[in-house]
Amino acid sequence: MTELISIKDSSKHVDQEVKMHVWLTDKRSSGKIIFLQLRDGTAFFQGVVRKNDVTDEVFEVAKSLRQESSFYITGTVHEDARSHFGYEIQITDLKVVSNNEGYPIGNKEHGIDFLLDHRHLWLRSKKPFAIMQIRNTMFKATVDFFEKEDFIKFDAPIFMHSAPEGTTQLFHVDYFDHDAYLSQSGQLYGEAGAMAFGKIFTFGPTFRAEESKGRRHMTEFWMMEPEMAWMHQDESLDLQERYLAYMVKQVLDKNEYELKILGRDPEKLRPTTEGNFVRLPYDDAVKMLQDAGRDFKWGDDFGAPDEGYISEQYDRPVFIVNYPTSIKPFYMKKNPDNPKEYLCADVIAPEGYGEIFGGSEREGNYEVLKQQIIDAGLNLEDYQWYLDLRKFGGVPHSGFGMGFERTIAWVCHLDHIREAIPFPRLINRMQP
Ligand code: 4AD
Ligand code: MG
Repeated sequence: MTELISIKDSSKHVDQEVKMHVWLTDKRSSGKIIFLQLRDGTAFFQGVVRKNDVTDEVFEVAKSLRQESSFYITGTVHEDARSHFGYEIQITDLKVVSNNEGYPIGNKEHGIDFLLDHRHLWLRSKKPFAIMQIRNTMFKATVDFFEKEDFIKFDAPIFMHSAPEGTTQLFHVDYFDHDAYLSQSGQLYGEAGAMAFGKIFTFGPTFRAEESKGRRHMTEFWMMEPEMAWMHQDESLDLQERYLAYMVKQVLDKNEYELKILGRDPEKLRPTTEGNFVRLPYDDAVKMLQDAGRDFKWGDDFGAPDEGYISEQYDRPVFIVNYPTSIKPFYMKKNPDNPKEYLCADVIAPEGYGEIFGGSEREGNYEVLKQQIIDAGLNLEDYQWYLDLRKFGGVPHSGFGMGFERTIAWVCHLDHIREAIPFPRLINRMQP
């Protein structure tokens, strides 16, 4: 029986007869030979139909195939040193499933709006293919890494009655006869999980009513949020560094083909796999910007150009640690050595990609936390359950959030975060 294989497994079937289920991305013919560019979701390669190898009927069918037609093929896999995939298939039989005219995405350049309007089809093209494969590697690497570190996956709700990350970017929803909001972060629920299970992570979509049209913001994005009981901020930084190094190493090991499609130089990612990220105090970052002649004062939050400048000083991600309390959320623990700052850190990605992780040690003391909630102008009643976590067996604990698409955008060196998710939601885009 001829085995059904996927394109990515071609190397294991050289000189064997196999079957494949494929779509056509492009076609070229010259008299007695037709070159079909094929894809099956696992890779892209070439099928060759020679008039002498097939019946007249199959040859005519092959000639009539249109872009994104779908069909079954039988043939023999050969090495093809000239192609970047390395293999091709000599087709002996072909059966069409669907063959229609008018596929809107051609092999010419299209504008980004056109492509986003056709995102449901654009996903089939090489660049989105490569990005989504890398996204998948990073997802699996995340699950593997945290499983090895003894975390459990813990799911936070999406409907919320309160706002952990500030009250300005909330999406309001009518929830029967009350107000609800879409989650901006699973963290507070993750803290309840950490007190129940020790080490947990939440990983799911989060929502922010971002007015920004910049290349780093979406209104819906995925966040990976580990939360660790009994862990101080320094150990959390060690964990973040190991996690990011592992994730990038997995991409380098598994996605050579995809990085090549993207034209992404793997050597730019290599230093990250070594860990050893600098831990730059906020105060020193301020001084670095001022020394470079930038207009920045202590207490300001970094804008994209500031983070860009800082990231250019390093060949791998850098932690900026201990920000002023005025620019971070209420749940963080103050630095006992300097109460003007929190024990917190952001990870700034290399090459100008800016903040990809944010995290902190959490305030564990009931009275202190209660005061911080009041000082933040939040409604104490909404946070009674959260305060219970301190009242009953509160312990030192820390956590962080990784912006999944921001991290993908950096790893893949994308111009805009919208290409890091299958169907982006932006201030001006909800379709398709
Ligand atoms: O820094 P943020 O706001 O931190 C939190 O939400 C914490 N509760 C995390 C925690 O400690 N558990 O967001 C975390 C990350 C940012 O570093 C950024 O990468 C990403 O989420 N992010 C966005 N990504 C895409 N679009 C947006 N609008 C984003 N806002 C934040
Ligand atoms: Mg942040």
